Amino acid sequence: MKYFSIAIDGPAGAGKSTIAKIIAKKLSFIYVDTGAMYRAMALYFIRNNIMADDKDKIEEACNLVDISIEYMDGEQQIILNGENVTGLIRTEEVGNMASACSVYSKVRLKLVELQRSLAEKSNVVMDGRDIGTYVLPNANLKIYLTASSKERAKRRYLELINKGISADIDNIEKDIIDRDNRDMNREFAPLKQAEDAIVIDSSNMTIDEVADSIIKYYEKSV
Ligand code: C5P
Repeated sequence: MKYFSIAIDGPAGAGKSTIAKIIAKKLSFIYVDTGAMYRAMALYFIRNNIMADDKDKIEEACNLVDISIEYMDGEQQIILNGENVTGLIRTEEVGNMASACSVYSKVRLKLVELQRSLAEKSNVVMDGRDIGTYVLPNANLKIYLTASSKERAKRRYLELINKGISADIDNIEKDIIDRDNRDMNREFAPLKQAEDAIVIDSSNMTIDEVADSIIKYYEKSV
């Protein structure tokens, strides 16, 4: 591989995107948020009234969806059939649909192609569920970032409360566990720790501590 790639995988709410963004900025790498790509596909399915269990319609729709990314002031923008949908994909509805439709291999293969092409053109910090195991098996540095489901639910709860959105911490934790189960048990490219990944449990670590430790691993590996 010509460029350096850092793969960060782990379950929902472990802090992957926050940490990946910090590291990308520090190293002047491109940050690739692959979850946003699944969310954009999900938004298309929702807008077109396609149900998550309708495999035929989902597969048919894959041929009609074009997903690309651009960067604006260093921030990844996600483009769905020519429309910038970056601000529309962070809802629970879209997240749940993304989780449900990411089990389909046709959905995954479409996005994997885009993800690999990005890593061929730049130094990247890419986060997701299958980056170190499937998308970039030769990534130079692989991190598996995790935290307890209680801690992840607490973080998500505080994030929502700070935005003025009411939330129930037990429901959030249940949702997180359901998502973990779907991600870990799907047939195609499930979430699992790559054999050569470094595991970081962020349950009792600050964001800066996690980012610093990954930067140290990077420095050791170059
Ligand atoms: O990371 P984020 O919550 O934005 O991802 C949305 C959903 O997309 C996840 O719940 C997961 O099921 C799916 N996903 C995936 N593989 C990736 C990234 C995300 O299956 N590489």
